Amino acid sequence: MLRVAFEIHNGPAQCLATALALLRALDRRLPPEMTDARESLRATTGSTETALESTRRAIGMLRSSGADDAQASLASHLRDALDEVRPHTRAALSLDVPPLDDLPSAIVTGLAEVGREALVNAARHAAARHIAVRVQRTRHAIVLEVKDDGDGFEGGRPGGFGLALMHDQVRLLGGTLHIRKGPGEGTLVRASIPLPERLGAPGRRMRRAASA
Ligand SMILES: Nc1ncnc2c1ncn2[C@@H]1O[C@H](COP(=O)(O)OP(=O)(O)OP(=O)(O)O)[C@@H](O)[C@H]1O
Ligand SMILES: [Mg+2]
Repeated sequence: MLRVAFEIHNGPAQCLATALALLRALDRRLPPEMTDARESLRATTGSTETALESTRRAIGMLRSSGADDAQASLASHLRDALDEVRPHTRAALSLDVPPLDDLPSAIVTGLAEVGREALVNAARHAAARHIAVRVQRTRHAIVLEVKDDGDGFEGGRPGGFGLALMHDQVRLLGGTLHIRKGPGEGTLVRASIPLPERLGAPGRRMRRAASA
């Protein structure tokens, strides 16, 4: 797995990062009156950014696929996601995850994906000043929240997959996804996943909260 992660890191990820830098340099040099060319260039830059994000995500998945410690892995997945979006947003980012040590790996990877998409959305669409990611364990559930104080939204852009995928992922884990938003009111994405019966005892494995 690590060999594949290195291959992607040194191959496509590096090439895409270089392509992105060249596209941004070109954008700075293009005369403002060339509006059509600028528009195409911006679209190409956006696609290249998306491709780079997904190769980085694949590297993260390959890195963590052999990890035994599922809970450490949720914190580190989310930390990786924060690191990914940091260059693309001016918002202050915060992460608060209690490093529980006994979550089933399906919950860890599923919640990590939901958190990542909510975070990417907040960074891409919200124009927020703050984006906060928080994980809490309640008596019977594990709850992930991604909250921003940005523009909020009504409905969703046709063609976007992120919101639908988050719903699918949470449903697959038997949980509920709630999105509280409104124009100008920021957005709160809250995924609540029920814990298996044997893990229901509250606080038993809680340790110091990790922040980033
Ligand atoms: N945190 C947010 N703040 C403001 N608008 C948001 C936020 N999250 C989602 N949206 C709006 O909802 C739309 C749909 O989001 P969704 O994640 O489904 O698609 P996308 O991000 O546009 O594309 P994709 O996720 O497929 O790359 C976004 O285009 C955006 O208009
Ligand atoms: Mg999205």
